[in-house]
Amino acid sequence: IAKTIIHKPETTSTQHIAHQLAQEGASHGTIVIADEQTKGKGRMNRKWHSSKNEGIWMSIILRPAIPPHKAPQLTLLTATVLADVIMKETNIKPYIKWPNDIIIHNKKMSGILTEMQAEQDQVQYIIIGIGMNVNQDIKSLHKEIHTKATSLKMEADKEFDIRYLVQKILQQFEKTYELYLQKGFPVIKTKWESYGFRIGEKILIKTMNHEWKATFSGIDHDGGLLVRNLDDGKMEKLYSAEIDWFRE
Ligand code: BTN
Repeated sequence: IAKTIIHKPETTSTQHIAHQLAQEGASHGTIVIADEQTKGKGRMNRKWHSSKNEGIWMSIILRPAIPPHKAPQLTLLTATVLADVIMKETNIKPYIKWPNDIIIHNKKMSGILTEMQAEQDQVQYIIIGIGMNVNQDIKSLHKEIHTKATSLKMEADKEFDIRYLVQKILQQFEKTYELYLQKGFPVIKTKWESYGFRIGEKILIKTMNHEWKATFSGIDHDGGLLVRNLDDGKMEKLYSAEIDWFRE
């Protein structure tokens, strides 16, 4: 991981550049990182505000020998990597909101966007995009996200060295990825559950056109979210949905 690092002072989206490079054959572990993105993108086609030198905007190209249905495991893996680094550097315990949001004090600090190119039952490449708000303060955090987002600086009351954090994230990623290849998903799952929803916790689920309540039952070996529908008691497994806490 990170033998090749491509650094751009400004770009549209590191995700976009990473796709181009991967199409041209960029090797496993290539990193694209930018100081500023003009068209940062989030999940569900949302915009991702990526102000200059205030956060980590980076994409990792992976060529793992796993079948496409296991790709969500890598998102969960990445979330545990970010949570570990944040915990170590700030002493604040973050929370992972399935599948990929890193939350501190109920506000989003970081998000992960995983995109995959697969052919037949073979992964060509996976791009893991990491966005982390680091040195924004309440003034520089975009108005649109004021109430729902936060930064490391706002939570820990100090500035962080972005290069140093990137280094820590890449080191931790490498270590965790190796562990995952050796031992499989169970180690990641355990780690994730130490940061994520607790078994039995009530959650609100928004899928395409309806909203329903469930209790969290765990994450499955393929990274899916296992929930029990509160209305009919049935178990369901989700791969894509918006989740929120639900408090009576
Ligand atoms: C989300 O929570 O919706 C995911 C946000 C992912 C943002 C990162 S920033 C680096 C990479 N480039 C992008 O355009 N998006 C991802």
